[in-house]
Amino acid sequence: MTSQETEIFKSKVTVYVFACWILAAFGGLMFGYDVGISGGVTGMDDFLIKFFPNVHERKLHAAESNFCKYDDQMLQLFTSSLYLAALVSSFFASKACTVLGRKPTILMASAFFVAGAIVSSAANVNWVLILGRILFGIGIGFGNEAVPLFLTEIAPIQHRGAVNILFQLFVTIGIFIANLVNYGTGKIHPHGWRISLGLAAVPGLILFIGSIVITETPPSLIERGKEEQGKAALKKIRGVEDVDAEYHQIVAACEQGRQVKQPFKKLFKRSMFPALFISNIIQVFQQCTGINAIMFYAPVLFQTLGFGSDASLLSSVITGLVNVGATFVSIYLVDKVGRRKLLLQASVQMLVSMVAIGAILLVHLGDTGTLDRVWAAVVVILVCTFVMSFAWSWGPMGWLIPSEIYPIETRTAGFALAVSTNMIFTFIIAQAFLSMLCHLKAYIFFFFAGWILLMGLFALLLLPETKGVPIDLVEERLWRQHPVWKRFFKNEEKVTA
Ligand code: BGC
Repeated sequence: MTSQETEIFKSKVTVYVFACWILAAFGGLMFGYDVGISGGVTGMDDFLIKFFPNVHERKLHAAESNFCKYDDQMLQLFTSSLYLAALVSSFFASKACTVLGRKPTILMASAFFVAGAIVSSAANVNWVLILGRILFGIGIGFGNEAVPLFLTEIAPIQHRGAVNILFQLFVTIGIFIANLVNYGTGKIHPHGWRISLGLAAVPGLILFIGSIVITETPPSLIERGKEEQGKAALKKIRGVEDVDAEYHQIVAACEQGRQVKQPFKKLFKRSMFPALFISNIIQVFQQCTGINAIMFYAPVLFQTLGFGSDASLLSSVITGLVNVGATFVSIYLVDKVGRRKLLLQASVQMLVSMVAIGAILLVHLGDTGTLDRVWAAVVVILVCTFVMSFAWSWGPMGWLIPSEIYPIETRTAGFALAVSTNMIFTFIIAQAFLSMLCHLKAYIFFFFAGWILLMGLFALLLLPETKGVPIDLVEERLWRQHPVWKRFFKNEEKVTA
């Protein structure tokens, strides 16, 4: 069989398989809902009075500079604690994914998430609130591990990028819905915050039902020795009877995989370095774009710039919409123009946006002044151009690329490590951004711009194109032909050696 033949297998998009994609993608909605909900909740007075009275006091009486109004470690911890739980749990999720399969892991994710919604919305004391955050976090750790893998594994190769990006699309929809919910519940006293946190149960429940309906992925079944079921699942999701070619390819990949007993140890072998490096540095870069400074704290950020609270909220709704819309661009383009071109184009657009925002704030926003209307509008537009380019590049590619560059034997372990790196850096940004804003002031945007420059160079020099490369040809096509990565392979050495 030639390489070309291994690439495109016969498939039809049936209603069932489409339903599987959409249901699984609700895992993204869970994640996005949480990204979007916590910033708004921490801004609600009722919530602050109940759990963080000191912060509320400070908020009322402090006469601080623009950039320092919201600098508070406890407040940031509320947002960030969840990511610590997600970080730890992604390793257990990796084990669950390998031993039990992707489907039960998704089921567990949704159960934890629903539990988190119930506990945190019913909380009356701080430790119960934190317990709720931890349950949410475990749900996210499990979901973010299993869902992108699931989507990548059930997608026909020619649509793999687009199907995987459904996860990111639902993340952005989740963020947007959360912004709208907060807008409504912020007016409901004193329990609006409970509704915000409790409504997280809705995507959790949909995913729960979804995880019963969806099929297990063929690679996961075959990897666990259930060849016949794997073949039947493959026929079902491809909508055709003749799946032999693809089936044999998966079986061969799994056979190699079975020889590896300790995937985490294998991850640190020399031949695995390119995948390990790329999948993790992409996570660092994704977070160091500064995206979550905007996603978590957009309302606070816009207030910092002197907007009134309604204008701030409206601006965050606008950026939320742009985030959703631009993700469609990615879905449309990713399997046509490839991953690298999107990343490169976006790096330039993000760099220009960040530098321009920083410059405007430096020149036009003093420590205690406000921006005039025209400059304020320009800043909102620049935030939009920034968010839009993130949404068609580093956002979705952060989940797509790590799910398609590992061989099967290290895939769940490698992906788990990438998920935790993402969570560590999400945690750091969530925990540090408001303090950094206070200390660096407008220069914080140049700080992010510096990172964006670096990641653009990375995409240019170190990232091979992964579009259309089948799993079993990753080593041959990506690493062995790359001027830098080929050094990690001796001529005769195989990835599984
Ligand atoms: C990132 C999140 C971010 C979101 C924004 C995701 O890819 O992992 O941290 O909040 O994109 O849309």
